[in-house]
Amino acid sequence: MIRFENVTKTYPKSNRPAVDRISLEIGRGEFVFVVGTSGSGKSTMLQLIMKEQDATGGRLSVAGRELDRLPDRKVPSLRRQIGCVFQDFRLLPNKTVHQNVAYALQVLGAPRSRIRSTVPEVLDLVGLAGMEKRFPHQLSGGEQQRVAIARAFVNRPPILLADEPTGNLDPGISLEIVQLLDRINRTGTTVVMATHDFATVDAMRKRVIRLDDGILVGDVETGDYTTGSIPRIELDDRHIPVRAPEPAVADGYDDGAPPAAEADPAPHAEAEPAPHAEADPAQHAEAETAAEVEADPKEADEADRTAYGEVETHDGERQAAAQGSGR
Ligand SMILES: Nc1ncnc2c1ncn2[C@@H]1O[C@H](COP(=O)(O)OP(=O)(O)OP(=O)(O)O)[C@@H](O)[C@H]1O
Ligand SMILES: [Mg+2]
Repeated sequence: MIRFENVTKTYPKSNRPAVDRISLEIGRGEFVFVVGTSGSGKSTMLQLIMKEQDATGGRLSVAGRELDRLPDRKVPSLRRQIGCVFQDFRLLPNKTVHQNVAYALQVLGAPRSRIRSTVPEVLDLVGLAGMEKRFPHQLSGGEQQRVAIARAFVNRPPILLADEPTGNLDPGISLEIVQLLDRINRTGTTVVMATHDFATVDAMRKRVIRLDDGILVGDVETGDYTTGSIPRIELDDRHIPVRAPEPAVADGYDDGAPPAAEADPAPHAEAEPAPHAEADPAQHAEAETAAEVEADPKEADEADRTAYGEVETHDGERQAAAQGSGR
């Protein structure tokens, strides 16, 4: 679903890359945390995926599209595949909960009948049934983030990116929000979440990617942040992971030596999608469309038209505003 091949991003006038020769693959249906200290490149990595920033080196493929070759006119179609959630919620303050979520569909030209049926469904999914008429200032932070998640997910995108979605929330509420993202992930949506939230990462036992100064230094299937069990990946001078020798004791490895299986250069190439436990038939249909999109990039745009035919506008600016990304 998402493939980084030696991807680098150096911002103008910067003397070191924000993302430095990263190679990794995130399979369809995976849930991945991206961790690392402030400035390590987490947000940049997410911005590269949504093509809010362009890589300065390497190749990046998202939902079947090679981003370095994606013409500007096709960026809106890429962004329809990606829902975004941010630390600061980015809700429209003068619109109600219902209107905030409905707006994401309206800007795509969705018919009123679809908006009327879909918005209550998704508000129910995020646990906000009965709060449709409230304005953002009448909600707690956790509730506002639920609205933002509903808005990001209402179009059922195959990918959901969350950049520190729990950064402004108390620990208990943070866990609830991540459990909601987990629920969305179980419908088949690939979720990538950047976070500093150690407790949540530890509680969720998901794949964890760790960045340090833009370099990929850790990648484990079920990470535990606080105990330091995210092993560092040894990289050679071309930043290619070095396969470590078998550890002497099956579960005994020190911080510097990851188990052999986790040092595999493409450990997630064959990752299976999460079970579609909560998927409804409509979601399956879209997931299959996403599969076609990935299988044949040339057909990607056409597949969009099929999946989102009634909402096709190619109006990236308005959609971006609806997603609250400020673009
Ligand atoms: N628009 C930009 N222009 C120039 N430099 C930038 C820009 N955005 C980020 N950077 C730099 O790139 C590096 C990575 O920043 P990034 O925001 O990706 O880190 P982060 O891991 O998300 O940090 P935080 O945890 O504080 O959100 C930092 O050195 C930062 O100063
Ligand atoms: Mg950031």
